[in-house]
Amino acid sequence: MPVTVSLASRSYDIAVGSGNLNNAGSLLASFKPVSRAVILTDVNVQSFGYAQSVAAAIADAGIDASILSVPAGEQSKSIETADTLWQTLLEDGTDRKAVLVTVGGGVIGDLGGFVAATYARGIRFFQVPTTLLAQVDSSVGGKVGIDLPNAKNMVGAFHQPLGVLIDTETLQTLSNEQYLCGLGEAVKYGESLDAGLFEYLEENSGKINRRDNEVLQKIVSECCRIKAQIVSEDEYETTGRRILLNYGHTFAHSFETMSGFTLLHGLAVASGAMCAAQLAVKLGLIDDALRQRFEQLHKSLHLPAEIPVNINADEAVALMQHDKKTEFGELNFVLPTGLGQCKTVKCTPQTVRDSVWG
Ligand SMILES: NC(=O)c1ccc[n+]([C@@H]2O[C@H](COP(=O)([O-])OP(=O)(O)OC[C@H]3O[C@@H](n4cnc5c(N)ncnc54)[C@H](O)[C@@H]3O)[C@@H](O)[C@H]2O)c1
Ligand SMILES: [Zn+2]
Repeated sequence: MPVTVSLASRSYDIAVGSGNLNNAGSLLASFKPVSRAVILTDVNVQSFGYAQSVAAAIADAGIDASILSVPAGEQSKSIETADTLWQTLLEDGTDRKAVLVTVGGGVIGDLGGFVAATYARGIRFFQVPTTLLAQVDSSVGGKVGIDLPNAKNMVGAFHQPLGVLIDTETLQTLSNEQYLCGLGEAVKYGESLDAGLFEYLEENSGKINRRDNEVLQKIVSECCRIKAQIVSEDEYETTGRRILLNYGHTFAHSFETMSGFTLLHGLAVASGAMCAAQLAVKLGLIDDALRQRFEQLHKSLHLPAEIPVNINADEAVALMQHDKKTEFGELNFVLPTGLGQCKTVKCTPQTVRDSVWG
């Protein structure tokens, strides 16, 4: 059963399966009329043949399909790459009935979604995420964009895809580090939003570490269901609901910045979640036994479980104050209030410093 993101006329389905890339053809054909499909991927992902499989399935369904490939990595989320892609789409005669199909991680999804949102004032796009992070998070919800040299995700749009096709078998080729990154986000959903998912992660840590395909399908489906529900309630991040997806993220962003972005996002989120749990204990929102349970799960999944010791506390707090979530000198945090429960809490920089590093 697909997970549905319910957004009135912009509703769409997320199909989660294994070895299902060949469904891309019938799925795309269901969005008639489709003049052609332009598949965007990165060179890394292309080397595993995923974009080629998707292109072949689409061609089999009678739709003309071509592949565009960009260098792998965050540096491709740039105005220069977007410009090259706009020009190429124009030169190839891409019209407004074309569909851009992203096959790759969050970089390809964000970049491709942004190009689709802007080319010819918006064409349709379809997501085929191939990293765990993209499958559980970035491919769902319609946030698309590129980076400015000193500001990540600063230019973008809300542009919902036509649909999302997830093949968990693609996760077998991910590096260990990239796999852990996605797990960091999956654990985030469990700790802050869904006790059932948290318990499932606890019970299946061995299988998760072995990348058991059935367990991965269940986890990806659950994460998509949780995110889809929240996005359906707050598509444009205006009611405060969607902010709840940011548990651990205020801390994480400062750690990423301090590492010069060598610390990967999902690992920073895992550390950030432990900081949020520690702050919640100090504010009396949860007891220390729950924080220890979080810590134990992180350890069994080989995720960062400690508050980073080599981080300069003053610098971290100062960076958080510059974060866009600061209001009137107080910092906004999403903190756990129980297993699978959270709320936003305002905190002074001093309280954060004393609670987490004191
Ligand atoms: N739009 C959103 O809501 C949202 C949410 C979270 C993150 N993001 C964005 O997502 C991006 C990070 O996404 P990411 O972690 O997927 O990064 P990524 O797209 O850079 O992928 C990470 C690496 O994995 C490689 N890769 C992808 N699939 C593979 C596979 N199946 N096997 C082997 N290698 C594979 C890629 O080539 C790349 O080198 C960031 O730019 C972030 O801002 C967006
Ligand atoms: Zn995140």
